[in-house]
Amino acid sequence: MAEVRDLPRHPGESVTVSGWIDAIRVHARVAFLALRDGTGLVQGVVVRSEVPDELWALARSLTQEGSVELTGVVRPDERAPGGHEIAVSELALVGRSEEYPIQPKEHGVEFLLDHRHLWLRSSRQRAGLRVRAEVEQAIHDFLYERDFVRVDTPILTGAIGESAGTLFETDYFGQSAYLAQTGQLYLEAACPAFRKVYCFGPTFRAEKSKTRRHLTEFWMVEPEVAFADSDDNMALQEEFVCHLVRRVLERCGDELATLGRDTAVLEAVRPPFPRISYTEAVERLRESGSEIEWGRDLGAAEESAVSSWFDRPVFVYNYPAGAKAFYMKENPEEPRTVLCNDLLAPEGYGEIIGGSQREDDLERLVARIRADGLPEEAYGWYLDVRRFGTFPHSGFGLGLERTLSWIAGGSHVRELVPFPRLLNRLTP
Ligand code: 4AD
Ligand code: MG
Repeated sequence: MAEVRDLPRHPGESVTVSGWIDAIRVHARVAFLALRDGTGLVQGVVVRSEVPDELWALARSLTQEGSVELTGVVRPDERAPGGHEIAVSELALVGRSEEYPIQPKEHGVEFLLDHRHLWLRSSRQRAGLRVRAEVEQAIHDFLYERDFVRVDTPILTGAIGESAGTLFETDYFGQSAYLAQTGQLYLEAACPAFRKVYCFGPTFRAEKSKTRRHLTEFWMVEPEVAFADSDDNMALQEEFVCHLVRRVLERCGDELATLGRDTAVLEAVRPPFPRISYTEAVERLRESGSEIEWGRDLGAAEESAVSSWFDRPVFVYNYPAGAKAFYMKENPEEPRTVLCNDLLAPEGYGEIIGGSQREDDLERLVARIRADGLPEEAYGWYLDVRRFGTFPHSGFGLGLERTLSWIAGGSHVRELVPFPRLLNRLTP
């Protein structure tokens, strides 16, 4: 069986390909079958006078998304997608398709999401998900090449990873368990074993927000490095993000074109990324009319305003302790802030990374856990990381779908997940 993407290498040869009917046009003397095989799209041409009557009858009866196997000679045709067509001499129906719900016309997004299992076959969706697969591979490659050890962290956890507000709680044989909001705490424990570690998997947040940036299940890659401070952490993030963008530019040109992405914006993603402290950002926001008070986390509107000041991703660093998670290290130079950063994507895509240096002082960490009203007993093992050879360390979490949404220029993170989980959506 040949793959459609290889056909340019077989002009004049007879090949057999299999796939789905993407579109069909039947005229009096000729039928055009656009066949999609998952590797590409090719046009099969059936000429009535050149094939047996049964083959012509079968070709005429085909419908959108029916699966077929067809054989014929490959010939160059500039007008055909991919530059080649197949002069069909044999045709077999594999699976019939009747009244395919997604037609070449405008459908509402809820309808499309209800039919996500079929919508995946559409060109824009295929392009977005291919970019996703490329970025996932690029993430592993980047970290592997820099000697990070992948450590798989649990999905079912007994301690709150980020904040109590967005937990999915489930019964675990009479005990409470939470779906992981992050793998970070476990990575911190793995640092003394491997120095540089990462996890990459699904994370869960019971977000009651219906925005274009929120999923209840999303994928996050989290690197964690021993003996790295907050500046080292930002340098790694910068290199990482540049690598991911470059990789998509190099390998996903067709997909970006299908998605209509303006690549000039991506070409501009080069180091150094601008850095602005939270305190400076608040001052500038207030000068430009915002009513944000020092101490509050930046909201979507404020993040968009900050990113509009720059042409590439921007680090906002050292937020107020009260706006951030319990594990962040107190800033010795300004103890009301913590050593952390968010990375904001350009064009209003908002926060794609959250990172920090971790509190490595046992007493301060215990005080933060208490101050945040977290159950201290659940963190015994986490505190052991400070009890037995504590060390400075930093890490970050990059949200895969938010990053992709920015790179692919999407309007909603849900289109970059094969089967998105949203506030009102658990099916398909
Ligand atoms: O800033 P967050 O909450 O950071 C952490 O979870 C840390 N434990 C990471 C670490 O230091 N190891 O989340 C990290 C990123 C965000 O910047 C965002 O890109 C993404 O995860 N994210 C979401 N993406 C989609 N839907 C949601 N509801 C998200 N919440 C966070
Ligand atoms: Mg965050």
